[in-house]
Amino acid sequence: MSSTQTAAITAVHGWLPEDKLTNADLEKMVDTNDEWIRTRTGITERRILKDPTKATSDMVAEVIKGLCVQRGIEPATIDLVIVATVTPDMFFPSTAQLACYKSGAVNAWGFDLSAACSGFLFALRTGGQFISTGTHKRVVVVGSDKMSSIVDYTDRTTCVLFGDAGAGVLLEADPTGDNGIRDAILRSDGSGAEHLRMQAGGSLNPASHETVDAKMHFIEQDGKPVFKAAVTSMADVSYEIMERNGLSADDVSWLVPHQANMRIIDATANRMGVGREKVMINIQKYGNTTAATIPLCLWEWAERLTPGENLILSSFGGGFTWGSIWLKWAMEPTPKAQ
Ligand code: UT7
Repeated sequence: MSSTQTAAITAVHGWLPEDKLTNADLEKMVDTNDEWIRTRTGITERRILKDPTKATSDMVAEVIKGLCVQRGIEPATIDLVIVATVTPDMFFPSTAQLACYKSGAVNAWGFDLSAACSGFLFALRTGGQFISTGTHKRVVVVGSDKMSSIVDYTDRTTCVLFGDAGAGVLLEADPTGDNGIRDAILRSDGSGAEHLRMQAGGSLNPASHETVDAKMHFIEQDGKPVFKAAVTSMADVSYEIMERNGLSADDVSWLVPHQANMRIIDATANRMGVGREKVMINIQKYGNTTAATIPLCLWEWAERLTPGENLILSSFGGGFTWGSIWLKWAMEPTPKAQ
């Protein structure tokens, strides 16, 4: 057992439902318009998992299977699966257990991790520790959310924002000891809960006729304070991780930001001094897929990434939770396969 191994991403995969929900579709559902959505958020369309028999674990299972195909390994050789989600199939069993079963990862243990839009970063950090301590060889980290299951499609302030997706990575020890997760700054502040939450269904407000009537099983967001906190915190932490590792804007090959709002992404890139050409942006196609946004970007960009490139992954989300991870990419350019 060595304590010097870095945890590197050795496969990346994403899964998207086929059905699209466009701004034009939303114009027919609520009092909104394409221009408002595009200028305030940057979103044009999102994907929706319409099949009522499918849930988050099905998306995670597809991601696990895709990772294994890409890496040429059997799902049964995976040691651990961590699923970041706020839309688990159910409270228990965990989505990780269901997805392991559905994908054939029969020798893995696993658990769900709840940190909303920062879920993937929290899970990546957690999964990385199992690799760097040498206790586990193959760890899968997936961010997946079926946001359509908790969105109120009569509330124009939230329904235009979110979409469904799953995406994730395989972590293994990097043989060079140089590529992989190099540093992480993760933070949280529970006082932000009142601005972004789903109130019912848990031990505080168990499901009842009253909670259903009061629409407490849907996501609630007071956009302005969340926006303000996001702009400051995500930019600060992204700058901080560069500074404490002596990375200049030129050293940063890519910023991989959570995709909640184009204006938050721009504010973060500006603070870091990183030009738009080095920022991964796909919010226009998928909207905010909560825990899936960051790995979804990695999957889409993997065909142009090369070993040794410096990536800064940054997020802000419900909790509040936020953070930044510096990693050195370890994979050769890899074409995207659905
Ligand atoms: O990923 C998790 C973390 N979440 C975030 O990072 C989201 C952070 N917040 C935001 O991205 C933005 O606050 C929103 C995109 C949610 C909203 O943008 P905003 O510029 O903060 O708008 P606002 O909430 O201040 O609303 C401005 C106006 C309001 O009308 P009045 O009061 O000025 O007459 C809203 O009622 O826009 C109205 N509005 C809409 N109009 C058309 C709100 N939603 C819509 C809509 N279509 N969908």
